[in-house]
Amino acid sequence: MQVSDHIQVKVWRGDASGGSFAEFDVPQQPAQTVLDVVTWIQRHADSSLSYRFACRVGMCGSCAMMVNGIPRWTCRTHVNKVVQDNRLTIEPLRNLPVIKDLACDMSEFFDKWKRAEGQFSGTDTRANAVAAISPAEPTRRAANAAIECINCAICYAACDVVKWNPNYLGPAALNRAWSLQNDSRDRCHGERLQAVSADGGCLSCHSQQGCASYCPNELNPTASIAGLKKMAAGAFMKKKYRDRHG
Ligand code: FES
Repeated sequence: MQVSDHIQVKVWRGDASGGSFAEFDVPQQPAQTVLDVVTWIQRHADSSLSYRFACRVGMCGSCAMMVNGIPRWTCRTHVNKVVQDNRLTIEPLRNLPVIKDLACDMSEFFDKWKRAEGQFSGTDTRANAVAAISPAEPTRRAANAAIECINCAICYAACDVVKWNPNYLGPAALNRAWSLQNDSRDRCHGERLQAVSADGGCLSCHSQQGCASYCPNELNPTASIAGLKKMAAGAFMKKKYRDRHG
């Protein structure tokens, strides 16, 4: 816990064409989160500051920002855990275009979900009985392990492959694809596997584990992507065998 009752906060201000840091002196409060700090600045120091949040309880994923160089969900990040020498530096998420100040354009992030066939495709209707899926089934356990993603894009900001290769689908889209590939009710496994095996898909991952290190929900997209790689390799070998032996 810091001794001073104020924090020196540098906040990135600007848009897609560029910008610079502005400095603010913010009163420190007990149990204060980084989102509280940004909100204080907007309400008391500069009402033109743009940022994004909704739930304030770690559910919606909209409040992610870079805090002292690390991507974090700011509504669940207490200042006293991350403040360094009584200073905070707050920037928009890495690897996404900036709209204004701390608000990023999430279009490419969600477009990649679409490219990875990240939507559930079932064929059952209300007329069908509810599918009986045992929670103990290995595929259900694999799906469950990946399912709690809140789309905060922290993994996307943490990923160096995304930075180097803008075509790469990224950890969140691939993690989503993995959870659907393990959902026995889904009917799109073949198309999805093709989508995530294409250029910029799972085979582009270098397994550096930045995504797993920073995911606020403690998911492991690297493990999900490894599962997709194995699935893609298995499908490739099966096809080779079929081509050779009919
Ligand atoms: Fe919803 Fe932070 S405001 S996760």
